[in-house]
Amino acid sequence: MKQPLIVANWKCNPTTLAEAQKLLKTIEKGVKNIKKVEVVICPPFVYLSGFRFRASGFRLGAQDCFWEEKGAFTGEISAKMLKGLGCKYVIIGHSERKGHLKETNEMIAKKMKAAIAAGLKPIFCIGETQKEKREGQGLRTLNSQISKGLKDIKEKEARNIIIAYEPVWAIGTGKPCEVDTTLTKSLIIRQVLKKRYSLSLSRKTRILYGGSVTSQNALKYIRGAKMNGLLVGGASLKAQEFSKIVKEVSKS
Ligand code: 13P
Repeated sequence: MKQPLIVANWKCNPTTLAEAQKLLKTIEKGVKNIKKVEVVICPPFVYLSGFRFRASGFRLGAQDCFWEEKGAFTGEISAKMLKGLGCKYVIIGHSERKGHLKETNEMIAKKMKAAIAAGLKPIFCIGETQKEKREGQGLRTLNSQISKGLKDIKEKEARNIIIAYEPVWAIGTGKPCEVDTTLTKSLIIRQVLKKRYSLSLSRKTRILYGGSVTSQNALKYIRGAKMNGLLVGGASLKAQEFSKIVKEVSKS
């Protein structure tokens, strides 16, 4: 398995390019000479072109992309444009986009296809809501999200995918998923991938955990739940805390 991936999803933060560059600089200083971990910074679109990494092991990612390459689609940013800006990764299907912007599984499927076609590695977000969890629908949700999101993705293309298990109820709540449950969920995801593609692909696919990750619990997900990385929201906006997460994971 490749080295762990720590993804910083800055969401709609911070509010100026100067602040964004300062945050990046402080994080880079904080994790100097860290090896064995790949750090992906996903700032808002408008900051992507203003980012230059000084530290090694850092990569640029976007938080979304559009499925068409170009055309009359006001406000949209295509996967090809992101590739041209130096992005290597793109987050697709984040639950906040599904919730606030009514993004559907069909839209997500098209974005997945477009991202791969543009040479980006999609970080495909899946996870159940509180209601689905309460009603015992968690597994059905994961199954459905995977089969719909990867509907048009062939095995060869699927090699570029990273899956982020982000239970919606754990995002921004300070109530992370139990380590044991996370391990179980990742095994289920691998089962679904095996059934859909092959044993080899299911073993090789990187699965990340996201939802209230801190420097206190980060390593537990890597060691205990055998996750291949983390998708970090709130804590990635605090340079010291995020650097600590990266340092913790580099111990794995
Ligand atoms: P928090 O780390 O703030 O819970 O957010 C997780 C997330 O949504 C990352 O994509």
